[in-house]
Amino acid sequence: MKENNKKEKIDYAESDKKALFKTIDAVFVRFASALRTAQIFKINNITYIKQVHLLFALIKNILRDENEAMFEFRESSLFFNTIRVKFDFLSYNYFKLLSNKFREKEIGTVGFDRRLEQEELAQFVYYFANVKVKEKNPFDDFEAKIKKKGIKHIYLEKIHPYDLAALKGEGEAKKSAKKVFFKSITHLKEAFEREKKEKRFRLKTTRRLVQSIVDHISQDESFMIGLTSIKNYDEYTLNHSTNVCILAICFGKRLGLEKEELLELGVSAFFHDIGKLEIPKKILDKKGKLSKKEREIMEKHTYKGVERLICLKELSFLPVRTLYVTLEHHLWANLSGYPRYWKKDHIDLYSKIVKMCDFFDSVTTKRPYRKNVFLNDEALNLMLEKSGTEFDPSLLKVFANMIGVYPIGTLVVFNTRELGIITESKSEVAFLLRPKVKLVTDRMGNKIDGKIVDLTEMDPETMEYKRTIVKSLDPRQYNIQISDYFLAQAQ
Ligand SMILES: [Fe+2]
Ligand SMILES: [Fe+2]
Repeated sequence: MKENNKKEKIDYAESDKKALFKTIDAVFVRFASALRTAQIFKINNITYIKQVHLLFALIKNILRDENEAMFEFRESSLFFNTIRVKFDFLSYNYFKLLSNKFREKEIGTVGFDRRLEQEELAQFVYYFANVKVKEKNPFDDFEAKIKKKGIKHIYLEKIHPYDLAALKGEGEAKKSAKKVFFKSITHLKEAFEREKKEKRFRLKTTRRLVQSIVDHISQDESFMIGLTSIKNYDEYTLNHSTNVCILAICFGKRLGLEKEELLELGVSAFFHDIGKLEIPKKILDKKGKLSKKEREIMEKHTYKGVERLICLKELSFLPVRTLYVTLEHHLWANLSGYPRYWKKDHIDLYSKIVKMCDFFDSVTTKRPYRKNVFLNDEALNLMLEKSGTEFDPSLLKVFANMIGVYPIGTLVVFNTRELGIITESKSEVAFLLRPKVKLVTDRMGNKIDGKIVDLTEMDPETMEYKRTIVKSLDPRQYNIQISDYFLAQAQ
């Protein structure tokens, strides 16, 4: 089989690559959509049958030209006919869905042969999505189950132990993400102190850390966003700057920025409030409203920041756009806001990105001067009210989509009376109200270390959703510390 694969790879390279990648994209999305639909509907439901029909037609089409059609999991990636499936942020949930299904059954390869029939494909996808397998030898158990169903033209291969270990390595990735998060805060502290004394900081280390944040976001965006529920660890500005850096990179990814651009954006977000080093603490932490004079001093942190940055010995290694972001991150989309002393007609894209992430993190953080700390979904609503004035409307749409109707880290109550915390939102419109959640109390209100459930799960008896969100809640009223739940995942 390996010989064949090699030959096919050469043929692919000679054919129209664009068309090939399109087909691979399509078959990946069709397979994942059929799986998702199978999780929601019964096997004879018309929506499910339609999804299977589309997948079947596509596979048959591929098999007309190719010897085989097979999905394969190796090196932590999904391949279709030996070509790596590329996924973007919108299809990332599909990738996770597939990788979970492969992992729990310890499957390395799913292949379809030319005699494949639609009925057996429907059976297979339904079982692949829903059947519970034994913990011991899940592969053998699953293979036996589908054989019993008379599925003959779909073959399976067991995953290589090395690839299984990589798939199971998510816990390690979370640990490492947590490490990078706290390391960033410490690094920023050191950088600020060094800058004060020596007018320099270790920019290479900053870049390495930000690169690491970019990499962790590629692996598990939801978890990284979850970490931004950590607030006021050490000094406010340090924790806040790290959170803004994470949110800005996630945002930049959604806008399709390149790797190098994400790094520049991250570094810029990291240092956006460096000018606050010059603002007296009694103004920064003042409980009451700032006087006109104090407000003027506070607003100076934007150009004080630029002043500090241009005096740096490593200035030539600092992205130029960091200066824009530092200066412009309090400017509104309608060009009001501050600083107000010079005529401006354009705001840099990075400044607009950082402005949104800055606002979101600020209003959701407890500060001495802030009477109302907004919940994540309230903060998003507040931002939507400011669309077109404070925030750029088209960028805000992307931001809202990233944060989700129920943002990651929101505490919610279900119709079952259980409480849960949103751990992963979904980008498909049909599932916006059905994210993944961690259960934190039972129906009686007792705190539990519950499992993570998918709100698309249905009760097979009644064919109704098992849980539906009723509303979001204030975690303080229930004595729940949201960040604890994310940190616990990285133990
Ligand atoms: Fe600021
Ligand atoms: Fe800020």
